[in-house]
Amino acid sequence: MNIKLIKEGTISSKKNLTVEFISSKDLKSHKDVELLQKAGFKAEQDTNCFLYGKNNLFCGVEKVSVDNVRSSCSVAIKNIKSTNYKSASFSVNSKNIKAVIEGVVLGGYEYNNYKSSDKKTALKNIYLECEKVEALSKAFEEAIIISEATCFTRDIVNQTPEDLNPPSFAKLAKKLAKDNGLECEVLGEKALRKEKMESMLAVGRASRHDSKLIHLTYKPANAKKIISLVGKGLTYDSGGLSLKPATSMVTMKMDKAGACATLGMIKAVSELKLDVEVHVFIGAVENMIGGNAYKPDDVLVTRSGTTVEVRNTDAEGRLVLADVLDYAQDKVKADYLFDFATLTGACMVALGQYTTGVMGHSSKIKHDISRSATKAGELTGSLPFNEHLRKLLKSSIADISNTASKPYGGAVTAGLFLDKFIKDENKNRWIHFDIAGSAYTESPWDCNVYGGTGAGVRMISEFIKSLEVRV
Ligand code: BES
Ligand code: ZN
Ligand code: ZN
Repeated sequence: MNIKLIKEGTISSKKNLTVEFISSKDLKSHKDVELLQKAGFKAEQDTNCFLYGKNNLFCGVEKVSVDNVRSSCSVAIKNIKSTNYKSASFSVNSKNIKAVIEGVVLGGYEYNNYKSSDKKTALKNIYLECEKVEALSKAFEEAIIISEATCFTRDIVNQTPEDLNPPSFAKLAKKLAKDNGLECEVLGEKALRKEKMESMLAVGRASRHDSKLIHLTYKPANAKKIISLVGKGLTYDSGGLSLKPATSMVTMKMDKAGACATLGMIKAVSELKLDVEVHVFIGAVENMIGGNAYKPDDVLVTRSGTTVEVRNTDAEGRLVLADVLDYAQDKVKADYLFDFATLTGACMVALGQYTTGVMGHSSKIKHDISRSATKAGELTGSLPFNEHLRKLLKSSIADISNTASKPYGGAVTAGLFLDKFIKDENKNRWIHFDIAGSAYTESPWDCNVYGGTGAGVRMISEFIKSLEVRV
């Protein structure tokens, strides 16, 4: 499907479907109101009405806003794809262009790599008609880059654990580096042992795949800031010896979504050519069972020297991140240190499935993130740390336990566990994003469809864009 920005009035309407957004308020005064009412169309949010005789599609929006247009457009594109129209056109302006592109690209996204036959759709071209092409071309290109980076992230999340394992993840990162002019360094198990990353190594020990630490760098000539992005890359989380129940294990291929998001972010930033240096650190590991599996009762010595009592092998993400965060801080003195992880089911209990949990010490960065997220159309919620919850991580035999002694506030106690591995000088530079709910969906919402959503990519691209101007 091609998307083109063109001057309005340049396509003949005979075989093209013209898409129009309409609110219930404006319906009454529309020239086609009689026909639309005959069809029972009330212009409610996310409802569509085709007037085939006129080659028109009407899309209901409650009131015209960026979020409503993106959502309505996502419904529309699926319906258009099931018709025989070869092209469809949307009228765009500086306010709605991003929402329309995200609706079309992200709402129309399909992952069919595991289907034996290709799904055919007649739709070849999407035309975005505007008054002045030059005035919108930058916004057009930016939205396309960010939407495609989001789809790139979704594609990786959606791959099976058999196809996407730590070594193949490293291969994929190397290809991205080659395509986008990034530096890429991969540490295998021998190098990880040398680095004393025994916590990360323990999690991956029962897997038949070698664990990998992947470090990608985007280094523009005039970097205004440096940001490190750390991703949890559990290519499969069976729970380990604290085995997940069968029904909870399904979908755990998505436990690599944090890592996939960081790849999407560096892809977007490098294609947008932003003047910000970006480092991505991924801990790619598979959590399995076996005679050599790490166990509840083990005590692990992390890279930082902090010892961890393992009480549940299913709380493995924090054990991987403990070592990767420590490594990232030693490798790069960054202005911002962000980690992305499908870390806890508790985050979904706290905020619902659609919202990313945001944790950290800096109110300023949390505030800026919240603004970037809203601008990008992502949902975030702040989960506050407190000293009472921190106490629940005390261990009788080691420096810290990998699980809290009480079941409530699980997303926060996981965040507080990570905090143990953030050096004092970085406390106010660090933000932890729990994307357990937002990274994957089994039913469509907004511009998300079944599978990986690419959560984080749009928000962080927007945040990094804002760093360029906020020198
Ligand atoms: N990967 C899971 C968290 C998760 C659950 C992500 C559901 C997405 C959907 C994580 O490794 C995990 O299993 N966490 C445990 C922690 C517990 C053992 C302290 C959890 O959330 O139950
Ligand atoms: Zn787990
Ligand atoms: Zn996990």
